[in-house]
Amino acid sequence: MKKPDKFYITTPIYYVNDKPHIGHAYTTIVADVLARFYRQEIGDKNVFFLTGTDEHGVKVAESAAKSSISPQEFTDRVSQEFKDAWQNLDISYNHFIRTTDKEHQKIVVDILKKLKDKGVLYEGDYQGLYCVGCEKFILESELVEGKCPDHNKVPEKLTEKNWFFSLQKFLPKIKEAIESGELLVYPESRKKEVLGLISKQALPDFSVSRSNKAVTWGIDLPWDNSQKVYVWIDALCNYITALAYPKGKDFKKFWPADAQFLGLEILKFHAVYWPAILLALDLPLPKLYIHGFFSIDGKKMSKTLGNVIDPNKLVAEYGSDVAKYLILSQFSFGAESDIKVEDFPVKYNADLVNGLGNLINRVTNMVEKYFAGQIKIDFKNTKLGQEEIRQLHFRESLLTIWQVIQKDNLLIDQEKPWELAKDEQNKPKLEALLKELVFDLYNIAVALKPFMPQKSQEIIDVITAKKIIKPQSPIFPRLNK
Ligand code: MSP
Repeated sequence: MKKPDKFYITTPIYYVNDKPHIGHAYTTIVADVLARFYRQEIGDKNVFFLTGTDEHGVKVAESAAKSSISPQEFTDRVSQEFKDAWQNLDISYNHFIRTTDKEHQKIVVDILKKLKDKGVLYEGDYQGLYCVGCEKFILESELVEGKCPDHNKVPEKLTEKNWFFSLQKFLPKIKEAIESGELLVYPESRKKEVLGLISKQALPDFSVSRSNKAVTWGIDLPWDNSQKVYVWIDALCNYITALAYPKGKDFKKFWPADAQFLGLEILKFHAVYWPAILLALDLPLPKLYIHGFFSIDGKKMSKTLGNVIDPNKLVAEYGSDVAKYLILSQFSFGAESDIKVEDFPVKYNADLVNGLGNLINRVTNMVEKYFAGQIKIDFKNTKLGQEEIRQLHFRESLLTIWQVIQKDNLLIDQEKPWELAKDEQNKPKLEALLKELVFDLYNIAVALKPFMPQKSQEIIDVITAKKIIKPQSPIFPRLNK
């Protein structure tokens, strides 16, 4: 398998009108695992991992007003909460972009000017349903019995001037690029979904600006002071503004992205609008990796239901490495799934305390006891579970690693080294067995590096020490419950 020269990974930039939850954490964790994996493969400086926050728009301005602070103060606060959550989870991003960053805003203005110069933007009328109570356009799908649910009023049909992007021109090229794989949309089901949208002609031209009257918190459209840049356009551009498009060293090195992660609800923006903008700018197309949405105990995650899982709480309970393991091992990438909260402690005990933790204790204890901690091993990386990571099969990679853990725990049960140790004649057999076990443990730890960087290093330190001794306090302690 040929190694890439560089690897650029992104997550969506998260809205600051919500606190970081396990959904955001999932996307950020898979991006982190892949970034750590490729740093091992091709070196730190050849990997760029971007995440950040999406900070403009009506909703943010409203949330700020509710908290009686300015939008800037509000976004500073929530953006910091995302940074704190990622620090707690030991996320190794290279850059955290905020759409309120001066540099980002400046480049967005340049991009819009360029699009206008290329003739892909035109002035038109946007027709929509406007709720005066909310002072904003409201979607048909948001109405309850034809009325705004917050104001119990029928919205007015209103027309607003916007600048539009001529999407139609680009659709044939986007379709072709998806079909040929030039624009990778993974998994196959999502690729079909996008191709379906295109062939149904269900994709009208989209707005790149909104009226100043409706949107006050945003980037000014450079040539029309009645307009602000539409938040989605502002946000999508982050993937290249973060690299200092067009002249930046990072841009030249890292674009196009090798893995853009996102949830399926923002597929259209990423697989249609974003490629259209890139094509208009004559830029190469990225690879998009779309994962499913998950629910909690069978229900949609929501503040009202009170079932939102805070990643900080998981970290406080289990530590960052274990929290990441518990989230990634629940379901395969791309699948829609349900998180079962009561499974976390069960899985922790089964996989980590009784599985890996037990293996570490048994093996190190026996090497210490029967060979005074001295056993000569030729450590060699067997690349356990690595192909799976390359294919983004994160859970499957963990399952492959856990097969070795199970095999080894079973081997100990069957071979009963404590029986072998009773007879000096069995020493060579005992030594061969322990060598195999330490060798496997080393490879298990190496394989776990991208997933559990800290625990993996602890295990490697124990078994590559001059003298192998059983860790004084277990690497995976039992829960005190
Ligand atoms: N700001 C936009 C994205 C702009 S990107 C140019 C946005 N933000 S968001 O805060 O709503 O984040 C959406 C992303 O968070 C999803 O695409 C997904 O990556 C992650 N998730 C949020 N809730 C999730 C679940 N319940 N399940 C899985 N992932 C979820 O949309």
